[in-house]
Amino acid sequence: MLSRPRRNRQSAAIRAQIRETELTPGHLVQPIFLMPEPNARLPIVSLPGTFRLGIEEVVREVGECRKLGIYSFIMFPAVPEEHKDKTGTYATSEENFYLHAATRLKTEYPDICLISDVALDPYSTDGHDGLVVNGKIDNDQTLPLVDAMAVAQARAGFDVIGPSEMMDGRIESIRRALDKEGFTDTSIMSYCAKYASAFYGPFRDALDSAPRQLEDVPTDKKTYQMDPANRKEALREAALDAAEGADYLMVKPAINYLDIIRELTNEHHLPIAAYHVSGECAMLLAAAERGWLDYQTAASEALLSIRRAGASVIISYFAKDFATWYGQ
Ligand code: PBG
Repeated sequence: MLSRPRRNRQSAAIRAQIRETELTPGHLVQPIFLMPEPNARLPIVSLPGTFRLGIEEVVREVGECRKLGIYSFIMFPAVPEEHKDKTGTYATSEENFYLHAATRLKTEYPDICLISDVALDPYSTDGHDGLVVNGKIDNDQTLPLVDAMAVAQARAGFDVIGPSEMMDGRIESIRRALDKEGFTDTSIMSYCAKYASAFYGPFRDALDSAPRQLEDVPTDKKTYQMDPANRKEALREAALDAAEGADYLMVKPAINYLDIIRELTNEHHLPIAAYHVSGECAMLLAAAERGWLDYQTAASEALLSIRRAGASVIISYFAKDFATWYGQ
């Protein structure tokens, strides 16, 4: 044998020399679920270790993450039922606790990168990301609503706007709306390849945002989120979002879609973000709870694989834990 690959694995020193992929806390984004009560700390049964927090707890949590080297956060609101309506009016209301929380966080920690979520589902009585008109999701009537949401978020202090509702044309529409209001430095992280996935369950539990079983309302999100069978469609979405002015292209979920992450990385010059979603994390946690997997090594391997596939930015519920292990 002239060639023995094992020679390059024989010591920790050699393995460190030839390691191809680096993952640091700087690549990671910690998700935050925000509740209106300032001191709330409510567990999410289907996602152990993650909580719905009030702003005071969020300030504390973000402070801890910063000390560990995590400076990026994506925040989602758990909106009380009484604030929900058909058009998601509360999303842009002056009273909105989510917008107030963003302002507070950026005042406390000006050096963090705070990412928003643009979609109607946490605010709408039917749980859809777009506006439901006559039993259908109306793309073009949704656009002005998401534009207004993005502008309100930029005004509140969010650094990056995260449109997750998969309407056609929204990146250009949001970019123009932001620029018109002077928010030319506010970025857009487009959920461009977002699949109609079974892995969003714990997230929808956390926000009570699942599509409602109502008459004359679609019961799933398949007319706007993508079919898990499709690859070319992801390339098409990515090309459109890049042309429309996106600053990042996101693939979501991550682990079941590593091929898509790799293809977008090869095809595009924009940074690729990957959302390691709630169900993907919950599966691993459940197996670890049973002693079937080791949490630290399995979670680290999952994150590293997403990075190896080409993601620059990884949103994961494991971000803080990874940063803790990284520092040890
Ligand atoms: C909603 C949104 C969802 C997630 C992020 N933004 C849920 C959905 O599309 O139904 C899921 C994230 C996760 O599961 O961690 N627009």
